[in-house]
Amino acid sequence: MDKIYSFAKCLIAFAEDTDECAGYVCMYANDHINYRAYITLICVKKVYQGKHIGSSLIRACYRMAINEGMKTIRLEVLCQDTRAIEFYQNMGFTIIDKTEHGTNYMEAPLHMM
Ligand SMILES: CC(C)(COP(=O)(O)OP(=O)(O)OC[C@H]1O[C@@H](n2cnc3c(N)ncnc32)[C@H](O)[C@@H]1OP(=O)(O)O)[C@@H](O)C(=O)NCCC(=O)NCCS
Repeated sequence: MDKIYSFAKCLIAFAEDTDECAGYVCMYANDHINYRAYITLICVKKVYQGKHIGSSLIRACYRMAINEGMKTIRLEVLCQDTRAIEFYQNMGFTIIDKTEHGTNYMEAPLHMM
C-alpha cells in the first residue's frame, strides 16, 4: 500500500453528459534507474469503449512519463487478449517479451511521442 500511495498515478476520465467514471488508468513513473514507466491498469467502461477515451488516457500517461524523465513505457497483457494487444500496437507499443504465465510485455519508446 505504501508503494501505491507514494508513487502510483491514477487518471480518471469522466463522461461529458453524465459525469460518471468512463474509464481510468494507473501507472508508475518512478524508475530512475531504467527510466521505464509502467502502466498497471487501464479500463474503459463497455458503453464508452471505441470513443477514444482509452487512447486519450494512454497519451496522458505518455505525457506524465515524459514529464518525469522516463524514456520508455511498459505494460503487461494476456497473450490471448488480442483486442487489447491490437489497441496497444495502434498506440505505438510492440511486444518485447513473453512470460511463462501467458502474458506479453509490451513497450513504447517515449522520445517519439
Ligand atoms: C482496451 C481499451 C482500454 C481501449 O479503450 P477504448 O476507449 O475502447 O479505445 P479507443 O476508442 O481510444 O481506441 C483507439 C483506437 O484503437 C482501436 N481499438 C480500440 N480498442 C480496440 C480493440 N479492442 N481492438 C482493436 N482495435 C481497438 C480503435 O478502433 C481506435 O482506432 P481509430 O483511432 O482508428 O478509430 C478498452 O477497450 C478496455 O477497457 N477494454 C477492457 C479492458 C481491457 O482490455 N484492458 C486492457 C487489459 S491489459
